Amino acid sequence: MSEAKGLIKSHTVKKYWMAATGLFLCIFLIGHLAGNLQLFMDGYEGRLQFNEYAVFMTTNPAVKLLSYLTYFSILFHAVDGLVITINNRKARPQGYAYSKPGENSIWSSRNMGILGTVILAYIIVHMQNFWYIYKFGTTPFMMSEDGSSPLLKDGTVVKGGSIENGDVVMAGENLGPAMRDLYEIVIQGFQEPLLVAFYVLGMIAIAFHLMHGFQSGFQSFGLKSGKYGKLIDKVGLAYAIIVPLLFAVIPVYLFMIK
Ligand code: HEM
Repeated sequence: MSEAKGLIKSHTVKKYWMAATGLFLCIFLIGHLAGNLQLFMDGYEGRLQFNEYAVFMTTNPAVKLLSYLTYFSILFHAVDGLVITINNRKARPQGYAYSKPGENSIWSSRNMGILGTVILAYIIVHMQNFWYIYKFGTTPFMMSEDGSSPLLKDGTVVKGGSIENGDVVMAGENLGPAMRDLYEIVIQGFQEPLLVAFYVLGMIAIAFHLMHGFQSGFQSFGLKSGKYGKLIDKVGLAYAIIVPLLFAVIPVYLFMIK
């Protein structure tokens, strides 16, 4: 195989990987959004449900496996995307300066690398905000409705119990890890207007990235040439608007209401 053919092949393989990891991340976003929409639930029940959901997300073996797949997809998609962007720029040193909007591609398709970098920065800050603090930081603990008793991870209220080093202790006996209050961490986080603005900007970048990315994933797998091409475009556009919009409403709502 000639060198040129090898390059084309590796570029094609890269496109498949980009498409596979990108479409997987689109599915992840739907699941993540569904979980986050629980933040709209008010009162003690809402807090408890969200914290129980967080326990499920961090302990269920199948979800853990999906989480590892998500981390891998984010890293792979970001690194591969960067390599493709750099290679494209090398192949076309003038860039797309003469490609007017609407001529060859819409604005987002010409800026996937920049949008992807903004999103990667968003994800790093986001993981530090909640995921890192929940897993490795100092967190508040979920208490019973009257505030007197701690809860075990499975939601059992331990009357008369106390928390020592993250575990519920009752009459000198260690009953296991206490439920953490991730709900409180999220609410507190979104009392900061700068963070709310950062999240909204992140969602705008995600919306533009998906406007091109969603349909492009299908195109890379050759699934856009048939009769479903127009439908994929429409679903992609709807997805790119609705999903980031709902994500963006959450911090704004929590900032205004709580
Ligand atoms: C309002 C917007 C969002 C909120 C309130 C939010 C909240 C959270 C919380 C509380 C966690 C830690 C607990 C968990 O794993 O469920 C988390 C994890 C995570 N979030 Fe978000 N998130 C938002 C948007 C996003 C977006 C748009 C992305 C991707 C672009 C994203 C990517 C992730 C990832 C990759 C994790 C780690 C998941 C895992 O460990 O399985 N989040 N998010």
